Amino acid sequence: MEVVIVPDAAAGGELVANALARLVGHKPEALLGVATGSTPLPVYQALGAKVRAGEVDTSRVRIAQLDEYVGLPAEHPESYRSVLAREVLKPLGIGMDAFMGPDGTAEDVQAACEAYDAALAAAGGVDLQLLGIGTDGHIGFNEPCSSLASRTRIKTLTEQTRVDNARFFDGDIAQVPHHVITQGIGTILEARHLVLLATGEGKADAVAATVEGPVAAVCPASALQLHPHATVVVDEAAASKL
Ligand code: GLP
Repeated sequence: MEVVIVPDAAAGGELVANALARLVGHKPEALLGVATGSTPLPVYQALGAKVRAGEVDTSRVRIAQLDEYVGLPAEHPESYRSVLAREVLKPLGIGMDAFMGPDGTAEDVQAACEAYDAALAAAGGVDLQLLGIGTDGHIGFNEPCSSLASRTRIKTLTEQTRVDNARFFDGDIAQVPHHVITQGIGTILEARHLVLLATGEGKADAVAATVEGPVAAVCPASALQLHPHATVVVDEAAASKL
């Protein structure tokens, strides 16, 4: 595992955007796995600036979703599909036809999960998966004690994650769905390159467990230690317990 410590969130965004730009330069039809949350926003902003400056051509890039709330209509402003359309696809000039994600409103959620794993494989697999990290060490929505071999499936959110995410629902935890679909840890590990970005002191414990702790399901992100090409990009605050 490669650990890169940057001075601040903006520098992390620039560094990861450069990696994405290089990948797309080599492989214009790259399948990029993207994460929601506030941490990757500087990446999308920095990459969007490169697209607008004509430095990166995203006309053939494809985007894959990491996780989704169950039961939120796709057009709900906080469904991850809507969030990614707004924060990633639009600034990068990528159309929804190049987007793939699980159906959080499917009647048969398990079938939708299996269909998504199959679709990712049929698309040739994810070239680079960008990950954030929850304060409890979750990646995607794989909460602590998720199997390290898990596939895309339905999960129940912990109280902590619902509290953390209430800020996107007018601060009202009652509006945060209880269930989600997430790529499994085993699914995530199939991406060719994993890039986990963490910024701020609130992530310091989770980053220390990820990088220096044992590979263990209590810290799902520690599974990155098993991947042959994993990069952890952290600012000084998030690295403060390393
Ligand atoms: C959610 C997402 C994760 C994300 C995490 C951290 O739980 N499912 O993919 O990594 O939030 O979010 P933030 O970057 O806002 O701290």
